[in-house]
Amino acid sequence: MLHRKRSLCCNLSTGHRYLVDDRAVFVQGDLGNKADLEPIFEKYPIQAVIHFAANSLVGESVVNPLKYYQNNVAATLTLLETMLKYNVKNFIFSSTAATYGIPNVELITEDCPTNPINPYGRSKLMIEQILADFASAYGLNYVVLRYF
Ligand SMILES: NC(=O)c1ccc[n+]([C@@H]2O[C@H](COP(=O)([O-])OP(=O)(O)OC[C@H]3O[C@@H](n4cnc5c(N)ncnc54)[C@H](O)[C@@H]3O)[C@@H](O)[C@H]2O)c1
Repeated sequence: MLHRKRSLCCNLSTGHRYLVDDRAVFVQGDLGNKADLEPIFEKYPIQAVIHFAANSLVGESVVNPLKYYQNNVAATLTLLETMLKYNVKNFIFSSTAATYGIPNVELITEDCPTNPINPYGRSKLMIEQILADFASAYGLNYVVLRYF
């Protein structure tokens, strides 16, 4: 989440607290938990949210899709709902090249069809579709980055 002094909300399910820059405000919390999110939006004048948090192991997503739809889709919905409540309308989303599946072209461009082949890729594509709907309905400004 961004305001002039950057604030960061993470549950540390992966990653390390010591890697967070000292200039950032760090809050250990879960995006799926409104009780963790709302105090941050209350306290800081957040202008935009950069959303990196996810589970992102393709193999694990095949074995345990519930974890992926719960954490990547449902928790992101809670974040988006909280943003709307606090009138934060700018969102940058970490999606994935896994949304493309296995394209039959060598050079993948942004307008290649999406056809994810695993729950991880599908969970990210679902959020992309939700973002498009939120842009139409609520005026959300968003950018999607499909990292390779
Ligand atoms: N690393 C890559 O090559 C790659 C490629 C494509 C897309 N991405 C995407 O980029 C983003 C970051 O990837 P990464 O490799 O840095 O992953 P990572 O696992 O290192 O970092 C994800 C962070 O999100 C946190 N997190 C997960 N669920 C959370 C929740 N519900 N609430 C709060 N915090 C939560 C974890 O604790 C972790 O610190 C992810 O969204 C991932 O899908 C990464």
